[in-house]
Amino acid sequence: MIKALLNDVKETFAERFKKEPLLIFSPGRINIIGEHTDYNDGFVFPAAVDMGVVAAIHKSDTTYCTAIALDFDSTIVFELDKIKPSKEGSWENYVLGVVAEIQKQGKVLGNFNIVLKGNIPEGAGMSSSAALENSVTLGLNELFQLGFSKEEMIFISQKAEHNYVGVKCGIMDQYASMFGIKDHALHLDCRTIKAKPYHIDFKDHRLVLINTNVKHSLSTSAYNDRRAACELVSKVLGIVALRDASGADLEQIRDKVSEENYQKALYIVQETGRTIQAAKAIENNDLETLGQLIYQSHEGLSKQYKVSCEELDFLVDRAKENPNVIGARMMGGGFGGCTINLVTRTSVEAFVKSVSAAYAKKFNKDCSVYHVALSDGTHIIDRTIAKQLQ
Ligand code: GLA
Repeated sequence: MIKALLNDVKETFAERFKKEPLLIFSPGRINIIGEHTDYNDGFVFPAAVDMGVVAAIHKSDTTYCTAIALDFDSTIVFELDKIKPSKEGSWENYVLGVVAEIQKQGKVLGNFNIVLKGNIPEGAGMSSSAALENSVTLGLNELFQLGFSKEEMIFISQKAEHNYVGVKCGIMDQYASMFGIKDHALHLDCRTIKAKPYHIDFKDHRLVLINTNVKHSLSTSAYNDRRAACELVSKVLGIVALRDASGADLEQIRDKVSEENYQKALYIVQETGRTIQAAKAIENNDLETLGQLIYQSHEGLSKQYKVSCEELDFLVDRAKENPNVIGARMMGGGFGGCTINLVTRTSVEAFVKSVSAAYAKKFNKDCSVYHVALSDGTHIIDRTIAKQLQ
């Protein structure tokens, strides 16, 4: 899947900068279950995929840096001693934010040129942002021998998103993108930042992604509001994060918080529990239970946490009607993007066909279907491999 990206990025780099760059692939992710639990110190179950961002990067002899995003047909030029956020919602903040966060750590960067291209549609809920941030972080770490560990790099990427992009995200996306392992999903404890890899082979079933192709406005502020609500309830409970709460604890303070916030906190407590149960279900090869947990996760995200939307609910409802889909839910931050579906292997084609037709009829636009492979995390593309891929 990355071959086309690689060729485009290399070609542009050669044309513009006449040098052989360092090439990096940084993947997006799926998440089997455990949504909005990461910033509550809970568990998540993501995996890196074979869709993401390719970056070509090299030192520059100029007195400024140049960054080119082929997806947006956009180029920026900036000076390292004058880094500040660019306009809200622009791709530039992902690059500038990483540079700023590295500088905050007291590390000295030299001028550089970078060309970027990705194949994850924006707003798909597959973490194109973390893929982009990690590609820049790893590229700069390598180029200027900054000596950051992978764990340090993911926190640089996350802080870039907090401070330059404005999304107060958790650590799931950056972790999954950086630490992904081929054919594995990562059961990550977001408090200790330690993950247990699970080999994923669902045999008679497949994971299928369906993109609503919608990204509702206000998703950034709504995301930050959810986080603030969780922090508020934690404060009332006198705990560090909702990971430490039980349903009984919440019941005790129910009259001290709004009903909406109670429901949101309850969702987090339940989803944390579901994510632990999901790992057990996978260990036991019990896909029926896993599927049920995935459906319950969607129900909570939609009714209690209120981060779904009409299009996502529609896709999950169609999945529920189909006996060959044993689990389906919205994936990622919400308010649009993809559903993840656990489907009987031999029924994938028929399901995709019928759900696509129903979606087009209802919303007068198409959904997109992705079949992804679970892949390794952010890495340098070996020059010989890059040549073979040409
Ligand atoms: C976004 C954020 C993640 C996580 C998910 C929801 O992808 O970047 O940190 O909170 O939403 O699970």
